[in-house]
Amino acid sequence: MVISISGSRALRGELRVPPDKSISHRAAILGAMARGTTVAEPFLRSGDCLSTLRCLRQLGVEVDLKGDTLVVKGRGPEGWRAPEKTLDAGNSATTMRLLAGALSGRPFRSELTGDESLRRRPMGRIVRPLRLMGADIEALGEGERPPLVIRGGELRGIEHRMEVDSAQVKSALLLAGLQAEGETRVLGGRSSRDHTERMLLLMGADLSFEGEDVLVIRRSDLEPAEIDIPGDLSSASFLLAAAALVPGSRLTVRDVGLNPTRAGFLSVLNSMGALVLESAYREVCNEPRGDLEAGSASLRGVEVEGWRIPALIDEVPLLAVLGCRARGETVVRGAGELRVKESDRIAAVCGELRKMGASIEELPDGFVVHGPVNLRGANVDSHGDHRIAMSLAVAALCAEGETVISGWECVDISFPGFLDTLRRLTRG
Ligand code: S3P
Repeated sequence: MVISISGSRALRGELRVPPDKSISHRAAILGAMARGTTVAEPFLRSGDCLSTLRCLRQLGVEVDLKGDTLVVKGRGPEGWRAPEKTLDAGNSATTMRLLAGALSGRPFRSELTGDESLRRRPMGRIVRPLRLMGADIEALGEGERPPLVIRGGELRGIEHRMEVDSAQVKSALLLAGLQAEGETRVLGGRSSRDHTERMLLLMGADLSFEGEDVLVIRRSDLEPAEIDIPGDLSSASFLLAAAALVPGSRLTVRDVGLNPTRAGFLSVLNSMGALVLESAYREVCNEPRGDLEAGSASLRGVEVEGWRIPALIDEVPLLAVLGCRARGETVVRGAGELRVKESDRIAAVCGELRKMGASIEELPDGFVVHGPVNLRGANVDSHGDHRIAMSLAVAALCAEGETVISGWECVDISFPGFLDTLRRLTRG
């Protein structure tokens, strides 16, 4: 699908963004591992989360999604059945990696695959530790890529130091650890997003923290929960960035997740000079949330170092867009993980923004943007990656002339209705 966006009028108004993708996945999977009925609302009806539900159904779990209310009738991990066919995680690495962890403790064979993009993503990072825990797991693709074949069974807890700061890897180990003998300790696990830990605590797991480590012990009877899911801060970030960039804009996003392990983009926006105001801060179901207000500002370049990356990993492409309109250099380093996301996000965002007139250099683990430049409309491509597509749409809003974005359909992976939302906010 091809869409076109022209330099925009100000974005003004108040909105809610779609429910958090990471929390939606976890509500479905942990609900399926619990004993009893878990209700999650509002659940994100997007490509990725629907992939998770499809896989759970194939594992014999009763899952019902009406509107945006998800009801999961969990019977504990013991209630999961061997799937008759290959499980298809679609575009979703979260689905594949978290389910691989959970399935490592199940005494049957399962196979997990995904679309072309997911089949290019590295799985060695979960395969190696899950094997040490006792799972018979193999990544059949070249260079330890999907499909995965898992023959699960008796597991033993291990101590594992994270090779990369990845919440998906940590979560896979925690879900295996729930079914393992002894203690599973993820060394350095605290630096990535902690939605799994928060939800596990809500559901009665024996989970604890020691310094930078996360520990879990066996618990096969997680309690079901009623989970109220906040808006997705990563989705909100596209709109906050657009508001910062387009003169005269002022937006309020209500009821959005403000988990500190996700909120790095807000502090970078603030250091670039775009004042983002937080209000109505509260905690619901162990997750912080609140309202955010942002408006247009004169931006300055910023240097973002590696330690900040995990808390803004999905927002890095947006930093490249903001950098184009900021005074001075915007430098991002320590973000090499972006090369193995839904696309090589460093190459994709640098290449596409250059077509729009950006002055941007690619680094192995980031980029340097020289700003400000006047972006101009161009023909650009999403690389099949939802976050690249939406970042380009934000760039288009502050460019001169028309930008044509091909491969737009991938936006449904995380933010169905994004274009309608933009149109509504710019109607004035
Ligand atoms: C996610 C974790 C992050 C993030 C992804 C969702 C999750 O990936 O990029 O969009 O829900 O756990 P990594 O943990 O691999 O960095």
